[in-house]
Amino acid sequence: MSLLKLAHQHIQDSLRTGDIAIDATVGNGHDTLFLAEYVGENGRVYGFDIQQAAIIATTEKLQHSGCLDRVTLIQASHTDMAAHIPVHHHGCINACLFNLGYLPKGDKRIITQTRSTLSALNTACQLLAPRGIITILAYPGHAGGDDETASVQHWGEQLDAQHFSVDTFFSAIPSSSAPRLLVVHKR
Ligand SMILES: C[S@@+](CC[C@H](N)C(=O)[O-])C[C@H]1O[C@@H](n2cnc3c(N)ncnc32)[C@H](O)[C@@H]1O
Repeated sequence: MSLLKLAHQHIQDSLRTGDIAIDATVGNGHDTLFLAEYVGENGRVYGFDIQQAAIIATTEKLQHSGCLDRVTLIQASHTDMAAHIPVHHHGCINACLFNLGYLPKGDKRIITQTRSTLSALNTACQLLAPRGIITILAYPGHAGGDDETASVQHWGEQLDAQHFSVDTFFSAIPSSSAPRLLVVHKR
């Protein structure tokens, strides 16, 4: 099973219809659609991406699938997620998905950055509901990806174990450039 599928499976196990989720890196919208289908028509998904191309592609994808009305797409950095999510949803987020790196088939120079990723992860922890989940797919195989992956791993190891549990999953074929999945649960 791919690490992306594994991330989805962990989220599936945690999400219920009517829940609230965040896609912190919308990209081409595959993860946003997955979340939108799981929260159902009474749920809500907030999706963030800094690239207009990602927001446009995802709007079309959601429209085509009839899920657009349950998703709020925001062209902004995930570091600012708290400012864009209504205060009454703070502390109520049931799942938050990060799929780091660059937009597939897009501009490979536009990548998630260690500093903003860590800042957004800290904010996500604050926004999370009790028993909420964060999944982070990190890719060390590209420029900047090594540092980001190591920093995210270190961030996970530093989380207060009283409040969070962290599991790391590695690719079946181990290599220094293979992706890695962190699954964080709020207790
Ligand atoms: C690997 S892609 C995401 C793939 C996506 N989840 C999908 O289903 O297609 C990573 C995305 O993160 C976005 N990104 C980079 N920095 C960001 C930031 N600070 N805030 C939000 N999104 C960012 C990129 O523009 C890119 O679209």
